[in-house]
Amino acid sequence: MVRITAHTAERWHDGSTVDMNASMMSLSLEIVARTLFATEVDDDIREINEQTNQIMGIYNFLIAFPNAERFLHWPIPGLVKFRRARGKLDRVVNRIIATRKVDGEDRQDLLSMLLLARDEDGSALSDSQLRDEVLTIFLAGYETTANALSWTWYLLATNPEVQERMYAEVAEVLGDRAATLEDYAQLKYTTMVFAEGMRLYPPAWAMGRMSTEPVEMGGYRLPPGTHWFTSQYIIQRDERFFPDPLRFDPLRHTDEEKAKRDKFAYFPFGGGQRQCIGEAFAWLEGVLLLATLAHRWRMEWIPGQPVDVEEKITLRPRYPMQMRLHARSKADAAARDEAAILKA
Ligand code: HEM
Repeated sequence: MVRITAHTAERWHDGSTVDMNASMMSLSLEIVARTLFATEVDDDIREINEQTNQIMGIYNFLIAFPNAERFLHWPIPGLVKFRRARGKLDRVVNRIIATRKVDGEDRQDLLSMLLLARDEDGSALSDSQLRDEVLTIFLAGYETTANALSWTWYLLATNPEVQERMYAEVAEVLGDRAATLEDYAQLKYTTMVFAEGMRLYPPAWAMGRMSTEPVEMGGYRLPPGTHWFTSQYIIQRDERFFPDPLRFDPLRHTDEEKAKRDKFAYFPFGGGQRQCIGEAFAWLEGVLLLATLAHRWRMEWIPGQPVDVEEKITLRPRYPMQMRLHARSKADAAARDEAAILKA
């Protein structure tokens, strides 16, 4: 994670402008791809990204219909596009799996783990199970983190006091070296910044459940088979749980503050049996990536840009997020760090 991020940080230029959302997408895509597949397969990664975007484009249409699978074969242009994109995705992933099966090498990545996994009865995953596992982790694993990071950079750039305080922590913990796994536990304020970014802009903004037995909830009786949605975006902006809810304040996430509120007032990773399986991965990636880029660069928000959410499967920024980059010289950083510490 750190190596891939540091590589991006090295390629940036002082005074230039970047679209942070595009940068975060390509960074997190590369991180999850390398974790899953160990090698860089640039063309395949690009293809997967492109087809995913096509599928996202018609997602709102699909969720508008319960049991949408039943209509997927209809000759409607949006569905034809969806089927084509799904076919291409399947082909890329099937080819990666087939190649790996032939060479048989254990590359210590997630795909090798899945290939080597055996059930209690000794059976391996079937090809379609493998494809589904790989695609699920791939798709669940990069859009979400990329969006969380894009929104967090936006909030940091538009809240200079928070930004300075986070920079002070990064300078203090990292000094002159790159981040390591051991630093994660020390980057406490940075972790709270990431948490607060996901409170205001939860990448998974709503999630669904279906009752399998009669349930009573909030005075309503729901028969089995009822579908409902719970929205992180709405609940995490409710002033009953977060006073002055639109204020970006990482200190809402101290252990003390967390202990005071209901467990499900803040649930960017869902909950219960289906809770996100990648949560620990996402925290690690989010915090190490924020620290690695902040170590070298300060992002300045270019005023006058429109900002809005685009509510697809994930909560994407609707427009590019242009930011000007300023290299953090050591002296510069020291002066800012001191000012931030005094303020805090
Ligand atoms: C900031 C980043 C992320 C957010 C906000 C997020 C959020 C979520 C949410 C809300 C769910 C549904 C949970 C529920 O229904 O209770 C979920 C499921 C899932 N996530 Fe994540 N996720 C993130 C990153 C990741 C990463 C990095 C991976 C993989 C490396 C991943 C893999 C999965 C998988 C496989 C599921 C389905 C779990 C199941 O149904 O058993 N996620 N995620």
